[in-house]
Amino acid sequence: MGAIASRKITVVGAGFVGMSAAQKCAEKNLAREVCLLDVLEGRPQGIALDLNHAAAIEGYTTEVVGTNEPKGTAGSDLFIMTAGKPRKPGMSRSDLLEVNGKVVASVAETIRTWSPDAIVIVVTNPLDTMVHLMRAKLGFPSRRVIGMAGVLDSARFSWFIAQATGASVKDVDAMVLGAHGDSMVPMPGACTVNGVPITQLLDAGTIAGLADRTRSGGAEIVKLLKTGSAFYAPASGAVAMAASILLDEKRLLPCACFLNGQFGFEGVYTGVPAILGAEGVERIVELPLDTEARIQMQKTVGAIDADIQALRDLGLL
Ligand code: LAC
Repeated sequence: MGAIASRKITVVGAGFVGMSAAQKCAEKNLAREVCLLDVLEGRPQGIALDLNHAAAIEGYTTEVVGTNEPKGTAGSDLFIMTAGKPRKPGMSRSDLLEVNGKVVASVAETIRTWSPDAIVIVVTNPLDTMVHLMRAKLGFPSRRVIGMAGVLDSARFSWFIAQATGASVKDVDAMVLGAHGDSMVPMPGACTVNGVPITQLLDAGTIAGLADRTRSGGAEIVKLLKTGSAFYAPASGAVAMAASILLDEKRLLPCACFLNGQFGFEGVYTGVPAILGAEGVERIVELPLDTEARIQMQKTVGAIDADIQALRDLGLL
């Protein structure tokens, strides 16, 4: 990957997550160019122009370019894939399998054709299945195709822990593994407030309640918004991963990675702690799982396998 001054990030999808991700990439000066690709004529161009107008005020030198043309993404170092439909109230993320599967397959074609060396961060839901599909269609090494969800789910858990303990969210480190869905696996044993285990600060019932609220954190927002789903925190999660890769920060972040025997699973994408650097996923970090967490991980992988099978039945994989 070249120097920041010559880098290009493409954000696919100029919906709320995509426009928010493009803004954060520009404000952090993560690349020379942020390309925003969307099928809607005028939308990515309009958002790009608005973000470029803000450059003088915010002081960034990144240029945002909106396009409807797949070719416009050529030569990107990194993609943030956000295109696809969000949930409606009452829907599960898996209900989006068919509609978003088609979008992912078509974007994979664009990436493979115009940016064969890129690293791809997938945000589209149902996350674990869509990242699996993206990798299958791209044929890239799995270290270059990663799903964003653990950063978001862990951030939600952190917020709830901060609220319950009265401690600053800055000092909370939380960890959520598994699928980005109802079966996700919050890991209270791996959560601390500046090194102090949360089990010292909160009782088991309270922690279980916070874990439940984390599991339904996305749905809580869908219900409040009535149309659309969360976008600020999902965009923050994707851009934190992008920064760790582009700046070679080597942060340890929970994200959806392809497992080759780690945690006892083979050939499946799911949320695990990983070190992200210039090569993409540089290392998957295994944690000891207690019996309860192991059962939950098996359940979560079972749920992902069922979605993958559904994708096969639809002829999309
Ligand atoms: C959420 C959606 C984006 O968790 O999956 O808010």
